[in-house]
Amino acid sequence: MNLRLLQFLSCCVLCVYGWTDNRIRKFKNDFSFGVSTSAYQVEGAWDVDGKGESIWDRFLHEHPEVIADGRNGDVACDSYHQYQRDVEMLRELGVDHYRFSISWPRILPTGYPNVINEKGIQYYDNLINELLKYGIQPMVTLYHYDLPQALQDLGGWINPLSAEWFEDFARVVFDKYGDRVKYWITINQPSGVCVDGYSGLIAPGVVSKGVGDYICVKNVMLAHARAYRLYEKEYKNKYKGQVGISLGLSWAHGVTNATENEDAAAIYRDFTIGLYMDPIWSEAGGFPRSVRDRVAKKSKEQGYKESRLPTLSPEEIKLIKGSADFLGLNHYTSFLVEPADQQFDSPSVDDDMGVKISHNKNWRSSNSVWLKSAPYGIYRLCLYLNKVYNYPQVFITEHGWSTTTGLNDQSRVTTLRDYLSAILFAIEDGTDLRGYTVWSLMDNVEWIAGTSDRFGLYEVDFDSEEKKRTARLSALVYKRIIEKRIVENEWEPENWQIEITKGKEREEL
Ligand code: BGC
Repeated sequence: MNLRLLQFLSCCVLCVYGWTDNRIRKFKNDFSFGVSTSAYQVEGAWDVDGKGESIWDRFLHEHPEVIADGRNGDVACDSYHQYQRDVEMLRELGVDHYRFSISWPRILPTGYPNVINEKGIQYYDNLINELLKYGIQPMVTLYHYDLPQALQDLGGWINPLSAEWFEDFARVVFDKYGDRVKYWITINQPSGVCVDGYSGLIAPGVVSKGVGDYICVKNVMLAHARAYRLYEKEYKNKYKGQVGISLGLSWAHGVTNATENEDAAAIYRDFTIGLYMDPIWSEAGGFPRSVRDRVAKKSKEQGYKESRLPTLSPEEIKLIKGSADFLGLNHYTSFLVEPADQQFDSPSVDDDMGVKISHNKNWRSSNSVWLKSAPYGIYRLCLYLNKVYNYPQVFITEHGWSTTTGLNDQSRVTTLRDYLSAILFAIEDGTDLRGYTVWSLMDNVEWIAGTSDRFGLYEVDFDSEEKKRTARLSALVYKRIIEKRIVENEWEPENWQIEITKGKEREEL
């Protein structure tokens, strides 16, 4: 064999296996980098200027004992008063977009559009205008867990009318802000709203495992679809925005590749990915057959007349199918799966699945027990979504890491770099990935963990009057990634000063 041919062949082998592949991969200029927050977690001002009570206000006021450090969202980061500082931080980071949520009870205190709270409307107007002034795209979530308590009193997401309530709320928001907002997320994490929401551990504090949670999933998916169709029909032509939904999806595979473990992993994926993806993105629409069959069988054994998982009518299937311009992906960690060796509450989603999940003990730990670093997981998840759902358009709407207090958050920096590198591979291998969003801009009220888990690129001093925000090391590193559009593992800032860069040109005009 001649030398050239040999060199050529060995080069091909090396390239295929990536052994000598030290090419620098770059995010395209139109790839959108951002950060995310949610209303309850940052705004505070829980009863200020006519805001109504939310289920989180009620739950944490009635159960202060569930919050790890006793700090609830009454004041939080006080973003209601400090939003200009928030936008200043976004300009320091140089982000392309900011994902925040609208508090439903802040603008509709009764839950219904019979009363529109103008001061609440004004707050989001100011925030949106401030963002646009500096060239930052607002990405607005309509619902991030804070249902008006008045609607919870009517059954909340268990009430079949809830989809209509949500559509009415969406109409108010689209009317008020549709001219300026081009990216909409209807619901943040239906699994969080429903499966966690009806576990009794979080708001609304109602326990209805394996029953209420499934009814909630149906209503939330319908609510999402009604808002999507509303926008499609009445606003899309005029405003040309895009509407998606954020799903909380982890990657999961067998603890070993033994068939029983891979089968268990497939069940887990069907219940945690398929249940929410299939209705919108599958060919057939509706809930996955495997989930329907499993819950129906169990329900029958348990003496229920019908499956605890409600059916979707052909009209409902049609309404939901295709109801998203993009998938908002919230991804934090991965799991290893095997058949369960324990008893779960019955009925419950856990019992219906019958699997045990764990983390690999070599994965790096964050400050939260549920969160370990497994960057390959985001790559595998993206490829799985491509294969099963035919290359959906994806926008990562949350990814983050928790620490304790302190500005030197090297573990967050490492996670950020590792995951962004994996994301570059996912893009290279065909994922239609349009953006990435860090959870979170700053430390905030981490639901029942209070402020004991810190997710911020900026540290917040919750004891100070103005809830002082200070950039962590990760803020400087993220800024650099956004500027250069590459991940440089060795880069270190010369000093820890962060300066405003975004929108400077506008000020100088
Ligand atoms: C939620 C956020 C939360 C984060 C970290 C996400 O699933 O959307 O509200 O703070 O997880 O727990």
